[in-house]
Amino acid sequence: VAIKAAGAKLVTVYDVAESAAAEVASQYGAVAAASLDEAIGHPEVEGVVIATSTPTHVELTLRVVDAGKMALCEKPLAPTYAECVHCIEQLGDRVGKVFLAFNRRFDPGHRGVWDRIAEGQIGAIEQLTITCRDPHPPPLDYIPVSGGLFRDMMIHDLDMVRWFLAEEPVLLYAQGGCIIDPEIGRLGDIDSAMVTMRTASNRLAVIVNSRRAAFGFDQRVEAFGSEGMLISDNLPATGIKRFGGVGQSMALDRWRTFYLERYGDSYRNEIEAFVTCVEQSRDAPVTARDGLFASYLAEAATYSYANNVPVALNDRAEIDWT
Ligand SMILES: NC(=O)c1ccc[n+]([C@@H]2O[C@H](COP(=O)([O-])OP(=O)(O)OC[C@H]3O[C@@H](n4cnc5c(N)ncnc54)[C@H](O)[C@@H]3O)[C@@H](O)[C@H]2O)c1
Repeated sequence: VAIKAAGAKLVTVYDVAESAAAEVASQYGAVAAASLDEAIGHPEVEGVVIATSTPTHVELTLRVVDAGKMALCEKPLAPTYAECVHCIEQLGDRVGKVFLAFNRRFDPGHRGVWDRIAEGQIGAIEQLTITCRDPHPPPLDYIPVSGGLFRDMMIHDLDMVRWFLAEEPVLLYAQGGCIIDPEIGRLGDIDSAMVTMRTASNRLAVIVNSRRAAFGFDQRVEAFGSEGMLISDNLPATGIKRFGGVGQSMALDRWRTFYLERYGDSYRNEIEAFVTCVEQSRDAPVTARDGLFASYLAEAATYSYANNVPVALNDRAEIDWT
């Protein structure tokens, strides 16, 4: 639907699960390809959306770019930082041909805050607070294959810190633990985390993540600057509020339930931006290199949490990534 809305056409669909590809293809008038080469190699195909399981991203992305086409790769670029480095090395000067799907950069609220910071509406940005809480934890069988909270969930927020501050963090400290479901801990992950970061010019960022929020999907960005503050807030499903005799109001609906509803506009805007890049043969506004840097921060957060130490990000040699 988003591809059509962007003025493009879904030509082929490929999935290792043949029935899944056939279902999507028949629903949208596309061809269910029998192989990846057939899907990518179709003469009408100019851009390829890769929304497969994370461990397949690097191989598929390289095959698309090697075929001379542009890729929109779901986040994260790869399960580990080392695999991201390999991908960047293979891409060489073609990193801009990979549009990394950090969709939150295309959310009207978050993007609106970013635009206003760029216009100077809050002066110089000094502090950034990003809150990302899921309504409920994922199924337990997802935990061992997720790569962990920092690489799977926080990766969006780590990217947004770089995007909003327009400066690389130089110091990172992660804290976290299992407070929601001890089974997540037994499976080797955490369900709650906070990360603080500092840039060379002493701008500060805090990321707050939880795998559960009793009141719904909690997605907020607060940018504090020398001349004011901007907030991208949660979005209600309907906006209905009740007012009583004491003059208070109570929201009567929950926030948009989860990412497909909350970030629906961002996915549509992202696809539109991708189609524009393909049509105009332009490099992506958010590339594989952004995927590499976000993955670097996720790896640093994982290390910081596991070893209970702050990590100096300008001295990668100190960190044993293995
Ligand atoms: N941006 C976001 O908000 C957001 C939200 C959810 C998931 N994601 C990302 O999207 C990706 C997909 O997530 P998911 O939960 O649907 O994953 P998934 O593991 O359920 O896989 C999705 C599909 O990929 C197919 N697939 C697996 N390997 C393949 C291969 N080699 N070739 C072709 N098809 C293959 C599977 O059969 C399945 O139909 C993940 O990388 C995830 O991190 C992003």
